[in-house]
Amino acid sequence: MRPTLLLIHGFPLDHTLWEPNIAPLSTVADVMAPDLRGFGNDRSSDGTLTMEKCADDLLRQLDARGIASVIPCGLSMGGYIAMAMAERAPGRIAGLILCNTRSTADTSEGKLGREATAKDAMEKGMHVIARGMVPKVLGATTRRERPAEVARIEAMIARQDPGAVAAASLGMAQRPDRTHVLHSFNKPALVITSDEDELMPLPTSEHMAHALPHGQLTIIPRAGHLSNTEQPEAFHQAVIPFLRSLAE
Ligand code: MLT
Repeated sequence: MRPTLLLIHGFPLDHTLWEPNIAPLSTVADVMAPDLRGFGNDRSSDGTLTMEKCADDLLRQLDARGIASVIPCGLSMGGYIAMAMAERAPGRIAGLILCNTRSTADTSEGKLGREATAKDAMEKGMHVIARGMVPKVLGATTRRERPAEVARIEAMIARQDPGAVAAASLGMAQRPDRTHVLHSFNKPALVITSDEDELMPLPTSEHMAHALPHGQLTIIPRAGHLSNTEQPEAFHQAVIPFLRSLAE
């Protein structure tokens, strides 16, 4: 049976993050790539956007489509949400793909940074945030060799709603350590990171892969934080066999 793959975008992005991946991954799975609350085409943002709220939104979307079991594939903030889904509805999660993310909570310094990002989004606007974030989220190779991709990601960040960005930033600060969720996740899991990701250093991914009883780790070369779009072919080479193994 074809698995359902739920692609969960990172912060402060939208479903178009997955544009290069949807067709190739649809060869092996039914692919869903929604916008999280307040991002992209979704305009329903309200209050602090916790990872639990996002997880519940996605579980409701699965219910609405009559989908009992899913493989969440979350990048960064999307990974935080995938882990919250695995905590809330473990029986519905057939496998997990955690890309460029971490299972630990923010440090006190990290939480202060979230407040500053929320304030900047509201006061300075998304163009300023986009210009500041692009050098952090894209690896040196992409920045040097793929100007069109740099422009695509900068435009994606710049068009997000500042209120939603502030809400998600404050929501991420509230997330707990979910390493225990990985310890008790007894199904296959794939952890992906990249060798130019400066936001999620390799030990954060090794920590998750070791915590997962059936975890495997793939390191994508020449990619920064957005592995799926910086090196889509290498990304597919990791994800497609994993999905095939789950369909067997
Ligand atoms: C993301 O890409 O979703 C963010 O880097 C997550 C974060 O700020 O922790």
